[in-house]
Amino acid sequence: METKILDKSAKLLIGDKELDLLSTTGTEGETSIDITKLRDKTGVITMDSGYGNTGSCFSAITFIDGEKGILLYRGYPIEVLAENSNFVEVSYLLIYGHLPSKKELEKFQYDLTHHTLIHEDMKKFFEGFPPSAHPMGILSAMVSSLSAYYPDAYNPENYDLNIIRLLAKLKTIAAFSYKKSVGQPFIYPRNDLRFSADMIHMMFAVPSEEYEVPKVLEDALDLLLILHADHEQNCSTSTVRMVGSSNANLFATISAGICALWGPLHGGANQEVIEMLEHIKKDGGNYKKYINFAKDKESNFKLMGFGHRVYKNFDPRAQILKGSADKVLNLLGINDPLLEIAKNLEEAALKDPYFIEKKLYPNVDFYSGIIYRAMGIPTNMFTVMFALGRLPGWLAQWKEMKETPGIRISRPRQIYTGAAKREYTPINKR
Ligand code: COA
Repeated sequence: METKILDKSAKLLIGDKELDLLSTTGTEGETSIDITKLRDKTGVITMDSGYGNTGSCFSAITFIDGEKGILLYRGYPIEVLAENSNFVEVSYLLIYGHLPSKKELEKFQYDLTHHTLIHEDMKKFFEGFPPSAHPMGILSAMVSSLSAYYPDAYNPENYDLNIIRLLAKLKTIAAFSYKKSVGQPFIYPRNDLRFSADMIHMMFAVPSEEYEVPKVLEDALDLLLILHADHEQNCSTSTVRMVGSSNANLFATISAGICALWGPLHGGANQEVIEMLEHIKKDGGNYKKYINFAKDKESNFKLMGFGHRVYKNFDPRAQILKGSADKVLNLLGINDPLLEIAKNLEEAALKDPYFIEKKLYPNVDFYSGIIYRAMGIPTNMFTVMFALGRLPGWLAQWKEMKETPGIRISRPRQIYTGAAKREYTPINKR
């Protein structure tokens, strides 16, 4: 890993104690101060609620410059990968650190198409869920259940095999959870289809009819998956690293990441965006009213799909998707009034001093839901599609952590604010 120690070290003064701290800088110039010995030497901890200013690892996978709107996977700009690559190649790049050779890609593709089946017994698990079950709940339960079928997951020799298994099987599980929610029979994976085409086929084919995957759907899904593939230490990825740091098996670890992604402030936002846009449409399309709600702290209303912890200028993924939304809807011949409302909302917010001052811009979730909707994917599946896209990133981050020597279990500290030690007075003596 290319990190170098800066010659100027930082000094911290706490009371009469002075501490020299090591300063490190990454390949893109971002700098950190190492405080791991701070408590041992001074008795003091740092406080950083929401970890907005805390680095938890060195990582060579993804770089984000939130001020400039830059996103690189292993050094390659997201715009270049979105234009020229495909999800399978991007997955390989993220997990193994370099673009695959032709031979490596063929082997990877072969492996991903030959591990897609889940154990037949697992189909019974789907039966146990009520039809109203959210597919994200099913997805995380199923992924965790895979550990029962692959107890070898603890063995480092099997890490790569289980990475392949998970990448190959998640789309089968995701598609089955969709079929479960609409009450249709499961469609099995097909080895002659490319990754995204197979996913679309498993979702939309029915046993009684021929179904050819429309190229526009395959391409749209592949693009969405590429754009979601990694985003450095976000909530779900940090969850994966945290759970993985306890040496929990890979399936349990990724299942925890899926649960973290489910939340509406994270991956669940794409579902919330569509629900918000539908609500605005039903309310006569008066988007300005909702801009005002978002600015009013009393209302507790947030413009879903706006704002980001890291991007403070623009989210490059949102820009790519805005263009793609127009293209996909045109190709599919769909005129979705929600796209019009979304564009109006964006235009109004970008001119509004509140959003300008707080640096709030559309994020990846703002337009992704419109494309999923046009593709015929139901709202409650949006976050499942996000999970499918994010999986290679989680796997790459988990693998990187496992391969880093000296990694310790994640265990933050706290400042206790409860009652000081006090006497217990029993009500009744035993
Ligand atoms: N609408 C209105 N106001 C918003 C906002 C939104 N979508 N997002 C942030 N703000 C405001 C906050 O109220 C806060 O205002 P304050 O300074 O007056 O307290 C300020 O902007 C900073 O936001 P904060 O919530 O502290 O930022 P964060 O980094 O903790 O949170 C998000 C980032 C993404 C969770 C947050 O912007 C959000 O909830 N967005 C909507 C959900 C979403 O789209 N999530 C997907 C992320 S990819």
